[in-house]
Amino acid sequence: MGKIVAANWKMNLRRQSGCELASALKTDGRECWLFPSFTLLAPIADTLIGGTLKLGAQDLSPELDGAFTGDVSAEMLGDAGCTMVLVGHSERRHGHGEQGELLLRKLKRAAEAGLKPLYCVGETLEEREAGRAKEVVKEHLSVLKDLQGTCAAVAYEPVWAIGTGLTATPEQAAEMHAFIRDELTKLGLTDLPILYGGSVKPGNAKDLMTQPHVDGVLVGGASLKLDSLRAIDDVAREIG
Ligand code: PGA
Repeated sequence: MGKIVAANWKMNLRRQSGCELASALKTDGRECWLFPSFTLLAPIADTLIGGTLKLGAQDLSPELDGAFTGDVSAEMLGDAGCTMVLVGHSERRHGHGEQGELLLRKLKRAAEAGLKPLYCVGETLEEREAGRAKEVVKEHLSVLKDLQGTCAAVAYEPVWAIGTGLTATPEQAAEMHAFIRDELTKLGLTDLPILYGGSVKPGNAKDLMTQPHVDGVLVGGASLKLDSLRAIDDVAREIG
């Protein structure tokens, strides 16, 4: 598999801007994974029909359909045209207190509904400065032990690098990705791709994606503009 480029649009874009972006990427014949907000999923799914892009949601409910006001079930996401879903993004972990048991339930629900999760892990600045980065990442990864083969990929996203303009150096990324690769091997998940996320831009994509065990990138801010997303994907294709 070539390098993976995943776009997390977070709470941005609208029907027109999202569909235009998706449509241009489809016309290019790109194979990125797109994670728009809930309201954009169905129109973007229609735009993407017949193309090579993949569509995912940014979150899901751990519950089946039912009396859960404001939540969106895995089945609804499948019905809207998703095949993937983000689970454990740091903005869910830290902004909404999501962790361990809840994330495991979400991963299981996704799998039961046929959605492939992109599972995010990563330490805060405080945890890194306390020398606990690997311990934290190991703990985040531990929920995967009962989920053989159900994830699409893991994304290492150091919280201090997300949306801050700070990026892990290629060496920091390489060190953590090697650690994650070892941990995944211990869990029997030898083939799971590991993406890097956190202020990825056209200018640093090559340095990051050429590191060992960096199988692609999860891009936030720079995925909202066609030019920068194309430039990052061009780097991914060039590296192969
Ligand atoms: P960023 O976001 O590229 O804007 O730092 C990455 C992410 O949160 O997935």
